[in-house]
Amino acid sequence: MDFRLEKKQENVRNMVREFTENEIKPIAGEADKTGEYPMEVFKKMADIGLVALPFSSEYGGADGDYLAYVIAVEEISKACAALGISYSVDVSLCASPIYMFASEGQKKKYLPDLLSGKKIGAFGLTEANAGTDVSGGQATAVLDGDYYILNGEKKFTTNGPIADTLMVFALTDKTKGSKGMSAFIVEKDFPGFSIGKLEDKMGIRAAQVSETLYKNCRVPKENLVGKEGEGFKIAMKALDCGRIGVAAQGLGIAEGALEETIKYVKVRKQFGKEIYKFQGLAWMMADMDMKIEQARNLVYKAAWEKDNGIPYSVSAARAKLAATDAAMYVTTEAVQILGGYGYMKDYPLERMMRDAKITQIYEGTNQVQKMVISGAMFK
Ligand code: CAA
Repeated sequence: MDFRLEKKQENVRNMVREFTENEIKPIAGEADKTGEYPMEVFKKMADIGLVALPFSSEYGGADGDYLAYVIAVEEISKACAALGISYSVDVSLCASPIYMFASEGQKKKYLPDLLSGKKIGAFGLTEANAGTDVSGGQATAVLDGDYYILNGEKKFTTNGPIADTLMVFALTDKTKGSKGMSAFIVEKDFPGFSIGKLEDKMGIRAAQVSETLYKNCRVPKENLVGKEGEGFKIAMKALDCGRIGVAAQGLGIAEGALEETIKYVKVRKQFGKEIYKFQGLAWMMADMDMKIEQARNLVYKAAWEKDNGIPYSVSAARAKLAATDAAMYVTTEAVQILGGYGYMKDYPLERMMRDAKITQIYEGTNQVQKMVISGAMFK
């Protein structure tokens, strides 16, 4: 057994770390304040091949692996969790299900523009009354000649306002519940598509999240992904990928917070000595380090299983649970260690703490992850 990363994965880490230092760290605080999406930075991320990372060159990908992509999400999220989730949704919840389940024609049509960053992806699943209970979704798709007519309202769509291409789920047979759900590729210019309410959020403020609305939205029938009735399973498989992405985001947030804390405690003096010399505080930081290391192992293992064709739903759930709980724990402790300074906006830790909270909620609450883990135990 070898826990070391491969050279090419280390290279990706070094490249993304340098990019993050130069391009993301300097703008992350301001983007949080204004709530504006750093589109130019995202385009640069795509230019250096980050969106293409885990996909085949046949569709414009970089022939890298999912683990390398996960490392990229981790590094970016250390500095800016908002860009971390935007990137993760684009890759894991839009490009990945197209890559895994779409027809050859659909892949050739949609993947090159997504992987080059020319277009941005989103995922429309959640509805006002169907969050955890995906099968309670009410959006419908009725075949009418060469088009499906979509009607419904999707909630909390990350990248909704900036997306060009969306994976959207709707019932083609209302009598069958989750087995009547189907998956569609929707383009933002399809008639009947519009953006609804923009969300005003506690954290990840620069990420753009909105309702997406479908009013007699005409979707060409060739944009059905898979067969009618396969939508629920496609959504679940996409979320298996997405949960590894969110886990990497949580890991990155936690690592970023610990780095900031280490810098601070080495220079901050109280009672005549640097505060890391106080055992109570050093032990808090040992716990932070240990939770990060646990999370990193689970996150990388889930990605490694995906890369090696091993079923990874449960590993993705464990990774998401551990890493996002670590993010909340570490950022809260970090704010505590910096005290009044940690609470103020002069330091990035209060932002990191606000950003961490959502990672325990989206792409399946951490209670859903426990349902997945325990469900597998008692199958
Ligand atoms: N892979 C493949 N198939 C799966 C699967 C998976 N990971 N999970 C479930 N299935 C299959 C089951 O095997 C079952 O198949 P059969 O009927 O053929 O046996 C079928 O799907 C139904 O499964 P369940 O009975 O387990 O489904 P359920 O209705 O009880 O729901 C759940 C289970 C785990 C609660 C699921 O609904 C779930 O994950 N909910 C959370 C949804 C979620 O993560 N939403 C986030 C949306 S995206 C977002 O956050 C916004 C954003 O933009 C970031």
